[in-house]
Amino acid sequence: MSFPKTMKGELLPSSMPDPALQKKSRRLVICVAHGTFLLFAFFTCLYSFGFVRVPSCWSDYALEANPAQCPQVSSLVPEKNAELWNSLGETYETDAFVTRAVGWLGGAVRVPTQSYDKMQPVGVDPRWEVFGPFHDYLLTAFPQVHATLELTKVNTYGLVYVWKGSDVSLKPLLLAAHQDVVPVNPDTADEWAHPPFSVMDAPGERIWGRGSSDDKSGLIGVLSSIETLLERGFQPTRSVVLAFGFDEEASGIYGASAIGKYLLSTYGENAFFMLVDEGGGFSQEFGGVFATPAIAEKGYIDVRVEVTSPGGHSSIPPSHTTIGILAALLVHYESNPYEAKLARDTPMYWKAQCIAEHAPLLSSYVRKAIKRSTKSDRALRTAEEALFADPVFKAFVGTTQAIDLIDGGVKTNALPELAWAVVNHRVATDSSVDVVKEHDTNLLKSLASDFNLSYTAFGTSVSTQDAPAYGTLTLSDAWGAALEPAPITPIGADAVPYQLLSGTIKAAYNAHRSLLGDNIVVAPGIMSGNTGVYTILLGVDPHIFRYNHHNAGTGNSLSGVHTVNESISADAFIEMIRFFTTLILNADESTA
Ligand SMILES: *[C@@H]1O[C@H](CO)[C@@H](O)[C@H](O)[C@H]1NC(C)=O
Ligand SMILES: *[C@@H]1O[C@H](CO)[C@@H](O)[C@H](O)[C@H]1NC(C)=O
Ligand SMILES: [Zn+2]
Repeated sequence: MSFPKTMKGELLPSSMPDPALQKKSRRLVICVAHGTFLLFAFFTCLYSFGFVRVPSCWSDYALEANPAQCPQVSSLVPEKNAELWNSLGETYETDAFVTRAVGWLGGAVRVPTQSYDKMQPVGVDPRWEVFGPFHDYLLTAFPQVHATLELTKVNTYGLVYVWKGSDVSLKPLLLAAHQDVVPVNPDTADEWAHPPFSVMDAPGERIWGRGSSDDKSGLIGVLSSIETLLERGFQPTRSVVLAFGFDEEASGIYGASAIGKYLLSTYGENAFFMLVDEGGGFSQEFGGVFATPAIAEKGYIDVRVEVTSPGGHSSIPPSHTTIGILAALLVHYESNPYEAKLARDTPMYWKAQCIAEHAPLLSSYVRKAIKRSTKSDRALRTAEEALFADPVFKAFVGTTQAIDLIDGGVKTNALPELAWAVVNHRVATDSSVDVVKEHDTNLLKSLASDFNLSYTAFGTSVSTQDAPAYGTLTLSDAWGAALEPAPITPIGADAVPYQLLSGTIKAAYNAHRSLLGDNIVVAPGIMSGNTGVYTILLGVDPHIFRYNHHNAGTGNSLSGVHTVNESISADAFIEMIRFFTTLILNADESTA
């Protein structure tokens, strides 16, 4: 702020001060300075003991964040089964167990359970048959599991295991994973450090191969936990249900959806204590370690944009062919991306609150903006601008669009009568498929009229006049497979499952590193695409989490998901086993 000159002038002393007064005032200044220093030291001391809090204008840390948006609980370790949990923890650290666990996962990776796009149903497409040998492998690798748990095969290759608890009034814990893996591109087979399905690395170091991370580590991690719990004679109070689909990488139409229907018809709505499927992990962010279980999923729609116009010989062409018109429409799409808006009642905003509250290396400017944004709209826009500098964060917040397919024309001397493209959208968690349809419909309206096209969008005629048109523009749901954003899993003070999961994550993280206290923050996250999560259960079971307790931060412990050199360190895999064991025991002790 700058003062006008006249004002400044008035503040200046108008005469020379006398020396005695000068001396006196110097002493006074020194005295006040010392006093101030002592007072400051005194308050600093009190502050460091947590007796006082500094006013918010001094420290951005002290600004009140809304605790409901980033709830933290302490590490949660089993009490009734403390001895068992401690003893298993020690076992997991032994070389003998590491060798055993690596063997379990390696054996699973060696069975190439690849799933492909557009497969024929089970029983028709022979490529499903590889899941038979995979089941045989599980049977020999986990004898205790198969002797104790009840196994139902759903649509031949879907696996549902039930570990019956003694108290059937408690809702079962549902753990999900998928048996299939993305195919290895044959052209890249020789780029792998180790052949993708052979697992040749020295035991105890690293498990290489397709599926070692996504998601056989999850599936084998769960079974390894249960096998060792059974070996120790543990009998659950709360039932545990395992659901392992076989086509997650191919949309889940034969596996996950059949299992979802089976679970719904067997157990009914709102039947599970909580569902944990693959998803977010933990990583370093701005100097803090954050675990981000996904509590929501973006929606999905592929919009087909189709243009037709009269054909003819290309020696007498019109000014615009269908391909030219389609190109103009697509350029218009890209010139008008969806606006991303960070809204207060969304998981990504809550995640931002967690970062502001707990990330030590976040700039003070951004931290202040995020914290003030709980009350100030201006601060919210500032926070948004800063956070959107990270394109990943921005893509997670807003609805996105990507033109992924295009086709048109058959011959160089024939005018194309038809051209089409598909625009893939991931729908923001606070938007809907209908909003996207309406947005796209309006976006192309004026161009449709400029090009003299009769326009139909999602089954409704958009063109106003019945005048004859030069051609047509049609928008449609490309495969009729649009998905609404998933309902948001509750995380508030009365959401026992979120608290239990948070405490379990902290306990597993600490135990694996022999740490005490608070070392990892749990922040809500979302999935930008749809997982094979049991979509049928979405909306009927509120407590759904997509989380693997894997270290996603350092390329070291986990890498190559969906590409060459997929691998996981033995240490990261052991930590996953520790997590599942802790989760099962904690859920068992909860009375909710
Ligand atoms: C896979 O690992 C091998 C051996 O470390 C390396 O030579 C190769 O470049 C890696 N491939 C890719 C695509 O990273
Ligand atoms: C649109 O195209 C039709 C058919 O070619 C034509 O009859 C009509 O005059 C055109 N309308 C305009 C406004 O150009
Ligand atoms: Zn997966």
